Amino acid sequence: MPSDADLNQYLELLSFGSISTDSKYKDQVLACANWLERKLNAIGLKATQYETPGNPIIIGRGPVKSGRPTVLIYGHYDVQPVDPLNLWHKPPFEPTIENGIVTARGASDNKGQIFAHILGIEQTLREKGDLPVNLIVLIEGEEEIGSVNLAPFLKAHREELACDVIAISDSSMIAPGYPTFTYGLRGIAAIEITVTGPDRDLHSGIFGGAVENPITVLARLIAGLHDENRKVLIEGFYDGVRDLAEWERTSWKELPLQEAALLKMTGAPALAGESGFTPLERIWARPTAEVNGIGGGYQGEGTKTVLPSKAQAKFTFRLVPDQDPAKIVAIVEDYFRKHAPPSVKIELSPGHYGQPYLVDPHAGYGMAAQRALARLLPDCKPALIREGGSIPIVADFKSILNADTLLLGFALPDCNAHSPNETFPLAHLDLGARLNRYLLEAIAG
Ligand code: BES
Ligand code: ZN
Repeated sequence: MPSDADLNQYLELLSFGSISTDSKYKDQVLACANWLERKLNAIGLKATQYETPGNPIIIGRGPVKSGRPTVLIYGHYDVQPVDPLNLWHKPPFEPTIENGIVTARGASDNKGQIFAHILGIEQTLREKGDLPVNLIVLIEGEEEIGSVNLAPFLKAHREELACDVIAISDSSMIAPGYPTFTYGLRGIAAIEITVTGPDRDLHSGIFGGAVENPITVLARLIAGLHDENRKVLIEGFYDGVRDLAEWERTSWKELPLQEAALLKMTGAPALAGESGFTPLERIWARPTAEVNGIGGGYQGEGTKTVLPSKAQAKFTFRLVPDQDPAKIVAIVEDYFRKHAPPSVKIELSPGHYGQPYLVDPHAGYGMAAQRALARLLPDCKPALIREGGSIPIVADFKSILNADTLLLGFALPDCNAHSPNETFPLAHLDLGARLNRYLLEAIAG
């Protein structure tokens, strides 16, 4: 378990409401960035904060010696919104601890995981006065909104950020005690649609039947995205989708995260998804079309006989190699334009996007990562997995810095990331700190 002092620092970090998508929280975002800069300096790194057109980026550097590899550890201090707030048992930015579990927004995604790295670095520096590698720690504040300002920052600081490999803990272990190496992430493309019928809300008795209802149109457009086997019907959607490798299909069947575990974790009455694939294959290696939000018309108490003027919905498409987010946005726009009737107007506004990522888990520093995991949890062979989530900057790290990423997360799939009552097991602070130490040692060779 962490010391009281370390625990207090972690809880302090969690108390910043650093929600990047909502400008109301800007002050807390900036306060959180300042806190991290101070913390990195306090543990013996040289830390600097960089302004961006959005939220600041913090960079910390360890002692530099020639002849050893440079490792860049990446994390993010921004968090997802907390609504629906009424489902939280305690306020999301007033962390609580019960039975060794911390509850707060960001507890695992990603503050707990970066804090564990900070602890590991601090321990090594305290004991040895040095680290086994040249270390750059980069913590940004816009991951949850697509890291829009980080890729330009990488380009502008290419030389100072040159490194041999990136390490990120912003993913999960497959199950408690199960060492996990993630070698693939899905990409993402976001888009919003607004469907407009009449130029104002109308009386549904006076006009209904002769004027289009935009909610009905939107519902048809959404329903038309999938067939009965949950295949996405947008023309060209599956172009370039790489098949799963046979070894992936075989080894994923052995993992302790199958249908029953997913049912328990999600509370869904039954699973659903694309036919011909197991649940893990669907999440990790198949693309999806998701509606993230839908609205329009009267939502208050009782009845209001209104024919609404507008309906809107927000979508994200999760993508796999070798789908291209820009191309997906283009064919999604075509789909909506082609299928919307002339009785409505539609407006489409594309949002952030990120490329999918896939790397050979046995190549490069992949074996060093596996050695570190085997040392951390020697009773269990490291699981080699992909994840369905997205970390958009990972593909940019490859294209801009020409470095592969080792994804070594130690959150758990049931930590409620992005959901109410997000958690992190306190024991995983120590676990993550040890992983940090073993990983840097394994990379140093
Ligand atoms: N930590 C997640 C990504 C993740 C989750 C990776 C689970 C692997 C397993 C990250 O903070 C996140 O949520 N990213 C967003 C990115 C998006 C908003 C551009 C996501 O995946 O929704
Ligand atoms: Zn995250």
